[in-house]
Amino acid sequence: MCGIVGYVGPSVDETALDVVMEGLARLEYRGYDSAGVALIDGDGIAIRKRSGKLANLRSEIGAHPLHPSTTAIGHTRWATHGGPTDNNAHPHVGGRDRKLALIHNGIIENFHRLKTSLVDLGHTFLSETDTEVAAHLVATAYESTGDLTEAMRAAVAQLEGAFTLLAIHADQPGVVVGARRNSPLVVGLGEGANYLGSDVAAFIGHTREAMELGQDEIVTITPDSVSVIRFDGTPTDGKRYHVDWDAAAAEKGGYSSFMAKEIDEQPHAIGDTLLGRTDDAGRLVLDELRISEESLRQVDKIVIVACGTAWYSGLTAKYAIEHWTRIPCEVELAHEFRYRDPVVNQRTLVISVSQSGETMDTLMAVKHARELGALTISVCNTHGATIPRESDAVLYTHAGPEIAVASTKAFVAQITACYLLGLYLAQVRGAATSETVASIMAELGAIPPKVQTVLDRMDRVREIARFMADSRAVLFLGRHVGYPIALEGALKLKEIAYIHAEGFAAGELKHGPIALIEPGQPVFVVVPGPDTPHDLHSKVVSNIQEIRARGARTLVIAEDGDEAVVPFADEIIRVPAAPTLLMPLITIVPLQVFALELATAKGLDVDQPRNLAKSVTVE
Ligand code: AGP
Repeated sequence: MCGIVGYVGPSVDETALDVVMEGLARLEYRGYDSAGVALIDGDGIAIRKRSGKLANLRSEIGAHPLHPSTTAIGHTRWATHGGPTDNNAHPHVGGRDRKLALIHNGIIENFHRLKTSLVDLGHTFLSETDTEVAAHLVATAYESTGDLTEAMRAAVAQLEGAFTLLAIHADQPGVVVGARRNSPLVVGLGEGANYLGSDVAAFIGHTREAMELGQDEIVTITPDSVSVIRFDGTPTDGKRYHVDWDAAAAEKGGYSSFMAKEIDEQPHAIGDTLLGRTDDAGRLVLDELRISEESLRQVDKIVIVACGTAWYSGLTAKYAIEHWTRIPCEVELAHEFRYRDPVVNQRTLVISVSQSGETMDTLMAVKHARELGALTISVCNTHGATIPRESDAVLYTHAGPEIAVASTKAFVAQITACYLLGLYLAQVRGAATSETVASIMAELGAIPPKVQTVLDRMDRVREIARFMADSRAVLFLGRHVGYPIALEGALKLKEIAYIHAEGFAAGELKHGPIALIEPGQPVFVVVPGPDTPHDLHSKVVSNIQEIRARGARTLVIAEDGDEAVVPFADEIIRVPAAPTLLMPLITIVPLQVFALELATAKGLDVDQPRNLAKSVTVE
């Protein structure tokens, strides 16, 4: 996923370049292999672009200053086609007169064929990117239309794949044109100025009035106008909305990293996701879904599709959803589901879980599910994102902007939203009485302060993390709802501390993984509460004994008052008790803090870990 910014307006207190660079700084988390800007400068286009982080671009501009302008576009890149080099950085110019500049987020799937025809027509290419093909197509079309909007329309008609494109042309100062298909683009509505961005962070410092664009639409902005047409040329309008994230929300607010801030925001992320979704009687109210209760009563199977941490949120929620609804609930990796020839029909409810709402693997899975007739609901944290727009309904999490690449508050908000969907299904289908629903909602409402209690107890966990900074491998064990938490704890350590880490189902230990246990091997164990059904608590205590007997260093997450673990734990991390099915919202917190602190002790960039981007908008 790349960061995209467009601006058109006066260059008085701030120049167009200042506005674009500020937007790129807020979007850098979306991808940071390279960055670049283009602006209209007299009768030409001026471009500066460099590989590496935004600081490199700033140095380049410092060394080669740009003139003030009223029209500019900017881009931070997460490489797909072509390595992260200066040449492959966006913007790319098109046309023999090099008067057009273009930036792109996504993948143009048919770019090889298009490039071959353009080369045959005498076009020369300076990069290995698919984006440059689009630049030449728009520039070529402009030579006959003399109008950038129409040129964009002619060009996108030839493109296949996922793309957000922004373009400017030296012969049309004061105009920026954008096009989107399966990729994010929002409009910022200003006074005498207008903005485009891959998300609202691009312009949040200038306006909170925004416009959501639909699939296959082209937007043209000038300082005083915003017009939208469909790819077929018919006029349409975007949906206007007020952005309630203020600029501060997208900043670190005094924390050392966005990840640290977002871990601490988890009580609010859970609480805000619950807000406004019950009536005075405690009955769950999800009218926002705009799905008839009859349709939900027809459902005979649930499939959750997601990737990465979002997939673990589905794996976690599955236990509660099946327990409450008595409907089978499968949890699939979106990229496997898409090509597995799944058994899905009009009685299947497919729930996609995605923080960004732009993950291409998940988007493709949702589209496939709809082709098969399934009812689709998106659980998403990003208003107006592509996946919600491609779904029958959306239940937004209210975690606020999650900037760190490693997902934390969105994770707990996703689990909470999935719980709400499961409870709502149970309520609508009569599988749970209104008293049961109200009681569970009350238990959910009591979770945020328990999460806060855990956050207030993390000094020892940070100390352990610093002590373990040179660990080469860490194992995580969990059982029942603790199992996906073990998986997520391992992923956190992998993605920000670059340490090999693996999560296992505790019951699986004796079937192989116990061979990994050797003296000193650190193992986190998420222990079920003593009141967990099927005596799972004592089974996991036995697992701790087994690994301790083989020399493992046992780091045990256990409920307050659980004394059974004491003889076998090298470290005990105490958490407040809660109903078994809701415990994951609490037990994940120490593992997040551990990973953050260990990565920090290693001096790593926890917000922008190597090789990763905040949302993967390519398959
Ligand atoms: C989680 O820490 C990672 N950043 C990654 O696994 C992420 O959860 C996954 O790519 C899905 O992203 P999404 O929620 O935006 O769809």
